Formats: sequence, structure tokens, C-alpha cells
Amino acid sequence: MNVRITGTGSSLPGKILTNADLEQLVDTSDDWITSRTGIKERRIAAEGEYTSTFAAEAARRAMAMAGVQPDEIDLIILSTVTPDFPFPSTACIVQDILGATNATAFDLSAACSGFIYGLSVAEKYLRSGAARKILVIGSETLSRIVDWQDRNTCVLFGDGAGAVVLEASDGGHSLLSTHTFSNGSFWNLLYQPGSGSRNPASDPRTFDKKLLYITMEGNDVFKHAVRSMEEAAVKALETNSLSPDDISLLIPHQANRRIIDATAKRLGVSSDRMFTNLELYGNTSSASIPIALDEANLQGRLKAGDKALLVAFGGGFTYGSALIEW
Ligand code: COA
Repeated sequence: MNVRITGTGSSLPGKILTNADLEQLVDTSDDWITSRTGIKERRIAAEGEYTSTFAAEAARRAMAMAGVQPDEIDLIILSTVTPDFPFPSTACIVQDILGATNATAFDLSAACSGFIYGLSVAEKYLRSGAARKILVIGSETLSRIVDWQDRNTCVLFGDGAGAVVLEASDGGHSLLSTHTFSNGSFWNLLYQPGSGSRNPASDPRTFDKKLLYITMEGNDVFKHAVRSMEEAAVKALETNSLSPDDISLLIPHQANRRIIDATAKRLGVSSDRMFTNLELYGNTSSASIPIALDEANLQGRLKAGDKALLVAFGGGFTYGSALIEW
């Protein structure tokens, strides 16, 4: 059974927060942020915009490209760490917005690797015949869980969504393989301590101790990210009997320019074959790869027969890769 990507879409908030804007909020500089991360600006959700807002719009665009109607969708998998509500799932809210009345919908939690995990789950549904048309969405409103007084984290993240339509069909771009990995030993190096059952939002101490915000050991995360993304990418190459030279475009999770450069260097993929847009959007967690894939698609960076290697890393730790033949 062929698994194909038949449509891509993305959606970003209109509001731009530049490094110069951040200089007014915390003790930082455009110079520091640019040299340490590569990020110049990020998009921030306005009042009345939520994770479901961007997810639904990205999904609409992907369905329009695929020529698929909402009632043809069998399954909606939405990856997020910033759902509209703890429950119901944001996927169900998106189902309602889209009118995808025949879909089963659920959220998936794998932090910044969530979109790759979503592709992997969707691939299994399609290969087994359990579904024929699936929306996989990565959507985040990280600005709502960022401490805007913490310069270590607030400069890194942004909001937005990306989506793909996956189909068991003959037309479209082939999903050749997906691989997912987890290493729970490091769950506490990158997480949101509050709002779950350990530190409930209903306990005033959760708010007072600032537990509702992203907490991160930046240096440790950096080292693991490079090693893990390399491992996931090598697994994809080995599975498909490919060498790094066969890859036309590397689309890595957009967390930090230095992580991306180090990963590409270890893999032996030259910078002209690497897609980056983090200078414009920062780290949008599970939205970053589908946004980048959509932009690469719309910019004509992928030609028929090209191999695109998607590789992600995130909290958990989670990591993974997907290989697409365009
Ligand atoms: N502006 C100015 N100075 C800052 C700053 C900011 N926005 N953020 C941190 N600093 C300071 C630190 O306080 C520290 O100061 P000190 O030496 O006086 O204590 C100094 O800069 C160096 O901090 P350090 O953490 O060593 O910097 P770094 O080179 O490791 O870069 C990160 C920090 C966060 C950019 C980097 O570790 C990183 O990108 N890690 C991975 C994060 C990530 O991608 N997470 C998501 C993965 S999915």
C-alpha cells in the first residue's frame, strides 16, 4: 500500500515579535539571540487566536491542495503541547471547525517530535487499511506557556501550525519510512512542570512558583538534540539504502541554527541542501517541520524524485525521522 502526501498547508499568526522587541522585555540583545540561535523574529498569537485556530487553517490549506473535502477525512491526528484545553482534544475542536464529520480525532503528545510521531501513526493506519485519508497537524501556541521574564527561554519560541494530508493512493509524494525513538530518562530537562496532576493548575502554589512555564536545561538539551537527530537521520538512510548525498533537502526541526548546522555537518549534508526558516518563526515545536515542509513545497524546493529527510528532536526526550520521495 502506497502512503502519499497529497497536500501541505501552514498558518501563522500575523503578529511579529522581533529581537528588538524582546530587548524591551528582558536583558538581551539582537546580537546574542542571532549568534546563539539564528532567530530574528517569531509570530505570536493575538487574543482570540488559539492552537485550534492555526491548526484548522493549516488543515484547510492542506486539504485544498490535496483536493480533499472535510467529510472524506477518516482520521485527524493533532500534535501539540499547547492544546486549547487539557480535554477535550484540540483535534476534536478542529474536527468541528472543519466539519470533518466522518473522522476519528485525537491529540498526540511527543513535544517537538510530535509531527514525525503523527506521520508514523498515520502511516500505520494507512498501510493496514484502517484509514484512507488522514490529516496530520502540528500546532502550537507556545507564547502562552513561555515566561516572558525569563531570557533563557522566551527568545526561543513562537506560534503557528502546519499540516499534511496523507492518503493511501497512487498520486502524490511517497512516504518511504518513519522512525520514532524515546528516551524518558531525560524527561525533566525540557518540560512544563505545572498544570498536570503533579502540580495542578488549581493549586495556587503552581502559579506562585511559576510552574506553568517551559523549563529547560539548554546546554544539555543542545547536546542530546544533535546526537539524537543524527541517529534518527542515519536510521532513515540505512532503512532506505541511501547515503547523505542522495538527500535533496534536509528539513530538520527548527530549534536552533547551531543545532541544525551541527546535525547537517555530522551527516555530511551541505548547507544548500538544508531548509531553515527559524530566523522568521523561532521554535514552533511540533509545528516547525510541517511549516517548513509546506514552505519548501510552495517555494518549489522539491522536484519530482527528490528525497526529503525530515528529522526531529524534542522533550521527553523524543526524536524521529521521516523520508519522503517527492
Ligand atoms: N540574552 C542574553 N544572555 C542570555 C540569554 C539571552 N536571551 N539567555 C541566556 N543568556 C546568558 C546566560 O544567562 C548565561 O549567562 P552567565 O554565563 O552569566 O550565566 C550566558 O548567556 C550563556 O548561557 P548558555 O546557556 O551557556 O548559552 P548557550 O550558548 O548554551 O545558548 C541556548 C543557550 C538556550 C541558546 C542553547 O543552549 C540552546 O539552544 N539549547 C537548546 C535549546 C532548544 O533548542 N530547546 C528546544 C529543543 S526542541
